[in-house]
Amino acid sequence: MSSYHIKHLEEYFQVYRKSITDPESFWEEIAEEHFLWRKRWDKVLEWDFSKPDIKWFQGAKLNISENCLDRHLRTKGEKTAIIFEPNDPEEEARHITYNELHDRVCRFGNVLKKQGIERGDRVCIYMPMIPDLAVALLACARIGAVHSVVFAGFSAIALATRINDSDCKMVITSDGSYRGAKTLDLKAIVDDSLEDCPGVKTVLVAKRTHNEVSMKEGRDFWLQPLLDDANQSCSMEIMDAEDPLFILYTSGSTGMPKGMVHTSGGYMVYTAYTFKNIFQYCDEDVYWCTADIGWITGHSYILYGPLANGATTLMFEGVPNYPDYGRFWKIVEKHKVNQFYTAPTVIRSLAKQNLDYIEKYDLSSLKVLGSVGEPINEEAWHWYNDNIGKKKSPIVDTWWQTETGGIMISPIPFTTPTKPTYATLPLPGIQPVLLDKEGDEITGNQVNGNLCIKFPWPSIARTIWGNHERFRDTYFSAFKNQYFTGDGAFRDEVGYYRIIGRVDDVIIVSGHNMGTAPIEDAINEHPAVVESAIVGFPHDIKGNALYGFVILKETGESRVHDNVRKEINQIITEHIGPIAKLDKIQFTSGLPKTRSGKIMRRILRKIANHEMDDMGDTSTLLNPEVVQEIIDNVK
Ligand code: WTA
Repeated sequence: MSSYHIKHLEEYFQVYRKSITDPESFWEEIAEEHFLWRKRWDKVLEWDFSKPDIKWFQGAKLNISENCLDRHLRTKGEKTAIIFEPNDPEEEARHITYNELHDRVCRFGNVLKKQGIERGDRVCIYMPMIPDLAVALLACARIGAVHSVVFAGFSAIALATRINDSDCKMVITSDGSYRGAKTLDLKAIVDDSLEDCPGVKTVLVAKRTHNEVSMKEGRDFWLQPLLDDANQSCSMEIMDAEDPLFILYTSGSTGMPKGMVHTSGGYMVYTAYTFKNIFQYCDEDVYWCTADIGWITGHSYILYGPLANGATTLMFEGVPNYPDYGRFWKIVEKHKVNQFYTAPTVIRSLAKQNLDYIEKYDLSSLKVLGSVGEPINEEAWHWYNDNIGKKKSPIVDTWWQTETGGIMISPIPFTTPTKPTYATLPLPGIQPVLLDKEGDEITGNQVNGNLCIKFPWPSIARTIWGNHERFRDTYFSAFKNQYFTGDGAFRDEVGYYRIIGRVDDVIIVSGHNMGTAPIEDAINEHPAVVESAIVGFPHDIKGNALYGFVILKETGESRVHDNVRKEINQIITEHIGPIAKLDKIQFTSGLPKTRSGKIMRRILRKIANHEMDDMGDTSTLLNPEVVQEIIDNVK
């Protein structure tokens, strides 16, 4: 029996048991047999959640780009590593072999070095979904630079905050990006943000849209000529297993995003292992994850997990509805996609369209379907199962987080019987528990609780960049000796987990984490605004949408109100990006507050959800009278 590739349910139970009775030898075996290390570890695991201090494969040396590229060249050099499917269906797709990818990563690595990037330096990547993006990440990894990818939908202010937080020396971007029928001027956004980023010395610009852009002498360079000039052999840095590989920002409950730090050894082992099992990837398969590399799903399951397994991974630049709603299915047919991994918000928007968009295409290549980012509702699950999987491709509903690095709870296809809306069982090595408010474990089945993980796994984030205390406070303080996920979950009669949703101030909109605080901070910048509070409410396609309750300095006429509403969304777009816009804005004279001055979001959430019958206990409010006013004006 190989623990690396699980094929039956009994095998899963056996492997799982082994992984929790002796986690160290379990992971040691996997690490030993399936990866290339330049030096073996001295110790598999050292951990203390109270600090928190977590180290995997301490003392080991490796380079993840060598594991993703070089070691496949002898046997798979001519295999396609990346299929690039452009935004415009008329533009030809590109197949990039492992040899070609390796060559390009080496050249890019030399360009970075020549521009003064050294081991440990941070490099910000703000790019569209083009092959150069994948190459940029791998090139950083090769020379030991820490990449910090910022999703290319964030605003200039949001980008600057992230660049400065981790002191990036360089930004890699492009002249523009295509998104359906639109072209976005990425370079102009970078230029704006760099007004506030004195630490950035160099900007590399890939050509994509041929937009006219301004290039600042001495700072900005076109990427291609530098690549053309670069040497194609690039020695790699030999990294410690615990050296940081990347930073990826995620929203939190204060205004400042959290730069989650992932390290190279454990992250590589866990993402590769979970990729293999959750997608049951076989050598000739074509795998497609529709996420953007700007999010953790793209890091772990477009790039590192698949490439560490020598897989063929498809990168799609466009959007699901351009030129029409059949685009995804056309791509599945064209490239004979075997594993397809997307998000519930996408499934819901496609499910609203006519079935003709699907029936035109041959989807018989599909073997496994995946879902990630938020709970998948029953209706969307069935639509996906019936129309895309034709009831024969299992759906893997994968629960995990930016902080966890890899998938934590998910069915293994053809192994774990699936159940709509359930992420089902923990992956080997993952020990979930449900805790009550007091932190006591809720045992047994058919119970609800706060989802925590009680033992480390190799790809857990190690810290928040520059703020270890915040890391401890956010994830390891609510419950003693536990990693707290921020999610609530239900465990059913057979032990399957169903994720219910966030129990903190994070709202998942279209699968993206939105912290309430940064949005409120942005709104409060509006000169007419005194205070604001954001909650989520159910939305057909987005899952949740944002509802803002806003106190204005002066009550005015409705025309003025309409203007302020528009301006509030403009400010949010400027500070964070269009993904954080509010769907509803209600002006109010006050917000329900506790005696200590904390906004009672629970009440606002109920109102926004039209659950006014049961408002719970409002007696501890400082200003209970405001609740009725808010209810009377609810949208
Ligand atoms: C939510 C995305 C239910 C959850 C990989 C989590 C899910 C947050 C699922 C992390 C799922 C993700 N079912 N909820 N299958 N997958 N979530 O950091 O609330 O962008 O805490 O990572 O998304 O979002 P993040």
